[in-house]
Amino acid sequence: MSDLLAVILAAGKGTRMKSALPKVLHRVGGKPMVKHVLDAATHAGSARNIVVVGFGAEQVQAELGEQAEFVVQAEQLGTGHAVQQAAGLLEHYNGTVMVLCGDTPLLEGEMLAKLYAEHKARSAKATVLTALMPDPSGYGRVIRDKSGQVVKIVEQKDASPVELTVNEVNTGIYCFERDAHFAALAGINCANKQGEYYLTDVIGILAGQKATVWAVAAEEYQHTLGINSRVHLAEAEKIIRSRKIVELMESGVTVMDPATTFVDAEVSVGMDTVIYPFTWLEGNTAIGSNCEIGPNSRLQNTTVGDNTVLHFTYAHDCQVANNVTVGPYVHLRPKTVLSEGVKVGNFVEVKNSVVGKNSKIPHLSYIGDTDMGEHVNIGSGTITVNYDGKHKHRTIIEDDAFIGCNTNLVAPVRVGDGAYVAAGSTITKDVPADALGVARARQNNIDGWVKKRKA
Ligand code: UD1
Ligand code: CA
Repeated sequence: MSDLLAVILAAGKGTRMKSALPKVLHRVGGKPMVKHVLDAATHAGSARNIVVVGFGAEQVQAELGEQAEFVVQAEQLGTGHAVQQAAGLLEHYNGTVMVLCGDTPLLEGEMLAKLYAEHKARSAKATVLTALMPDPSGYGRVIRDKSGQVVKIVEQKDASPVELTVNEVNTGIYCFERDAHFAALAGINCANKQGEYYLTDVIGILAGQKATVWAVAAEEYQHTLGINSRVHLAEAEKIIRSRKIVELMESGVTVMDPATTFVDAEVSVGMDTVIYPFTWLEGNTAIGSNCEIGPNSRLQNTTVGDNTVLHFTYAHDCQVANNVTVGPYVHLRPKTVLSEGVKVGNFVEVKNSVVGKNSKIPHLSYIGDTDMGEHVNIGSGTITVNYDGKHKHRTIIEDDAFIGCNTNLVAPVRVGDGAYVAAGSTITKDVPADALGVARARQNNIDGWVKKRKA
């Protein structure tokens, strides 16, 4: 078992977000902030992640599910009080506790791993991650003695004028040895300007006992920034987004215009794929290699194979295979599966349908609740009439079928293997294999009609 676990503080409301949603569930790079923190802790080697929840506890638990254990802090009496809530879960644990806040989504696992390594190397009882902030206001200041030893952390509101000039701040990220930590926590009180139980007082208590208290400075202070408002949220979004774009480019993806390309943290894209401007790749979208995506495309939770082209396409919760061409102006709705070699062209909507290999839906069609075989050709303007006002019904189009232009296929209905449907038909009965289905009025030409009318 690993010697490291994480306690993530996430009970606060985040008043300055002005939101009904708990602050830590606001998304950055398509992922809730607290999830970024959890992933970074796991990356650093944390074997258990305990999240302290309070405001919106159920929502936070529902979002994180199995990935964490939870303790509830019913009243937010301070960061020290918050950590105390986890004491019960840690009774039989003897290793290192990394304490983090749920509102620092820019953290990277590497940085936390370094903090932990340093903590172990120094055999410290407590190690705090600090940062040199150009503007330290609002943060707790790290106070050192003449020899450079950390003596305490003082909150902005409790700091003396001299202490306020210190720009080394507490990032709110620490490693503690469990025994020493909880012993010191038992000694904190709320005799301070905010009337809260400060976790930071543990540092002063341990230092006073001559226990080894160490500090590690983060190389980039931006990585430790806490989000308190929507303005901060947008700043973090920008940083995470550009990190992701750089990561993609470094792995062999061409991003034509990073400024107009928005890729969520969990998205993957294969080598030599080209992403054109104004493209959003969201959720757990995964794209293969050698594809052309965009311009103007939005893919959510969509899987795309290799050598596939998606122009001007909006796809959500779909699967698109290799060598598929889609667009321009296509809407692929949930549970659409496009098999290898499929072509979907201008102004087509496909929903909850499987399109077999090498089938074509080139123009102006609605295909919903349909099982389509291989090598099917769908003429322009074909509509599957899938809804009778009460229920949805399926349309089945078997291999090699040929559907003429402007056909209505009134479901439930089946067009058999190799069958043809004449253009302009409204098909309400099954068309057997190899038959021609015609369902339209016969044309009648009336000679000389126009001249007669004009006269
Ligand atoms: C805290 C630190 C400060 C540090 C700063 C870094 C203390 C006393 N101060 O201040 O030194 O510079 O973080 O961002 O620790 N929380 C709970 N329960 C509570 C109170 C807070 O779960 O009762 C959670 C919040 O949801 C948040 C985190 O703890 O995720 C930090 O709380 P916050 O009130 O933002 O602390 P700061 O005043 O920023
Ligand atoms: Ca804060």
